[in-house]
Amino acid sequence: MKKILDLLWEEMGQAFEAAGYDPALGKVTVSNRPDLCEYQCNGAMAGAKQYHKAPLVIARDVAEKLEGSRIFKEVCAVAPGFLNLKLEEEYLLEVVATMASEPKFGLEAQEHPKKIMIDYGGANVAKPLHVGHIRSAVIGESVKRICRYAGHEVIGDVHLGDWGLQMGLVITGLQERQPELVYFDENFQGEYPSEAPFTISELEEIYPASSARSKEDPEYKARAMEATFKLQNGVRGYRALWDHIMSVSIADLKKNYGSLNVEFDLWKGESDVQKLIPEMVAYMKEGGYAYISEGALVVDVKEETDTKEIPPCMILKSDGASLYNTTDLATIMERMRLYQPDEIIYVVDKRQELYFEQVFRCARKTKLVKPETQLKFLGFGTMNGNDGKPFKTRDGGVMRLENLIRETQEEMYRKIREGREMSEEEARNVAGLVAVSALKYGDLSNQASKDYIFDIDRFTSFEGDTGPYILYTIVRIKSILTKYGERQKAESGSVEGLAFAKPENEAEKALMMELIQFNTVMCAAAEEKAPHRVCAYIYDLANAFNRFYHETKILKEEDPKKQEGYIALLILVRDVLETCIDVLGFSAPEKM
Ligand code: ARG
Repeated sequence: MKKILDLLWEEMGQAFEAAGYDPALGKVTVSNRPDLCEYQCNGAMAGAKQYHKAPLVIARDVAEKLEGSRIFKEVCAVAPGFLNLKLEEEYLLEVVATMASEPKFGLEAQEHPKKIMIDYGGANVAKPLHVGHIRSAVIGESVKRICRYAGHEVIGDVHLGDWGLQMGLVITGLQERQPELVYFDENFQGEYPSEAPFTISELEEIYPASSARSKEDPEYKARAMEATFKLQNGVRGYRALWDHIMSVSIADLKKNYGSLNVEFDLWKGESDVQKLIPEMVAYMKEGGYAYISEGALVVDVKEETDTKEIPPCMILKSDGASLYNTTDLATIMERMRLYQPDEIIYVVDKRQELYFEQVFRCARKTKLVKPETQLKFLGFGTMNGNDGKPFKTRDGGVMRLENLIRETQEEMYRKIREGREMSEEEARNVAGLVAVSALKYGDLSNQASKDYIFDIDRFTSFEGDTGPYILYTIVRIKSILTKYGERQKAESGSVEGLAFAKPENEAEKALMMELIQFNTVMCAAAEEKAPHRVCAYIYDLANAFNRFYHETKILKEEDPKKQEGYIALLILVRDVLETCIDVLGFSAPEKM
């Protein structure tokens, strides 16, 4: 099904043509004066020069051709040459009914579906997830779901930070605490235990302690570097410890990401591509791309049109060690080999923008990717506290994601308990679902690149532009449908196949007009990788629904045809809202 504005453009274009003008002038937009009209066309203004005519004359010519249009109920040519438009209710009904009958509410299929890889999450092994990781996970998950819904093939990769000094620090910290462990016995030949010698809480204690000590104690730091070196060179005991660190850490990460409905198709990490680095380095040297500068191996990436200095991309340090970008480049090489994506999207803190610019240029220049492969940086802003500074715990420390989720759940639980009859268990479950909506909607409703303020009071409110408000609206619809269904089933046995009815009042028409934007919004959200578009849409839709609800007696309506139409409309609104929150990555309870 075509987008509504395209359908209207078609009708308007035909009128322009019939009146002797270019049909392209018939472009229709949503009205910016909703008090005057629903849609408008400014084509007569644009055509005035071309046809040497006053815009109002053109507008009147066109309006005349639209008399009796089945699509436009009102076409007003007004000075200086605007066409103000209102939709025919009969036609609106037709569009809504078509939307309801088609798969994905009439969303147009992709002509050329793409294979897209999304690099998001970016958790670091052995370190707890902190709020800095929340945005990558929440935005990346939604972009993945939106692109999938729009018909692309999408692969999400968590791209763990699982290599380098942090692993050496954990191993050294562990050796301090438990030097007797068999992993540190160089003469040990047997099989290592399958059980890890630490729990996740111990692991999360070891890393920060070890990291802090290495900053004060150079001898200790040297030991950690030595351990990193041994690990990277395959010393058995260290490798076995690394495996334990990975499995304990990943199990915990899965749990944490899971509590936010974040799932990855691939659990790959920096370690997976280390084996490709020597080959990649040789290739870059042989191709004449990389050269030695002050002992380091670099690739120039500046371009003539640059307005600011873009430093060369360093591939190997002068001591031969690889860097963060060496790994990212090797990862691109592996992704191209294993998956041949058309597009790779990185959902990373926007402070890494320049870094990714270097990596992308280097990958293009060295032909690690095809000329048509798209590399996209989706940089996000900082999540700030009420003071406008990066979000911290009350005592100024880094907030762990787990605690942030728990605090939001507690707040939600408190609000749900207030004035509601609900068992303890149910209230806990509902609070869990609603808290996820509060966190995610609070984040996703902002344009990703902007900073935003994490305001727990506002995010958990049932009123305003919030996740809980959207869920509340869905639950309200569900409860009306349940009541209707129970009555209907008792009488006739079924509530399927209800017919829509022509809108009879302004609120009902406005609701239908919001609904039919779905196609346009979902396309734009996928095109622009912009979950905030979906948020803005469901907020408008929920508002339109609530206005309709307050003005309409749904269950008390006596005309059965009319009531059937209301119910059909409610079902569609519910389904559209639920589809939208699903692509945002949260879901609604049955009651709340
Ligand atoms: N692990 C990194 C961090 O915590 C983020 C990784 C981002 N992705 C990438 N391909 N570099 O900062």
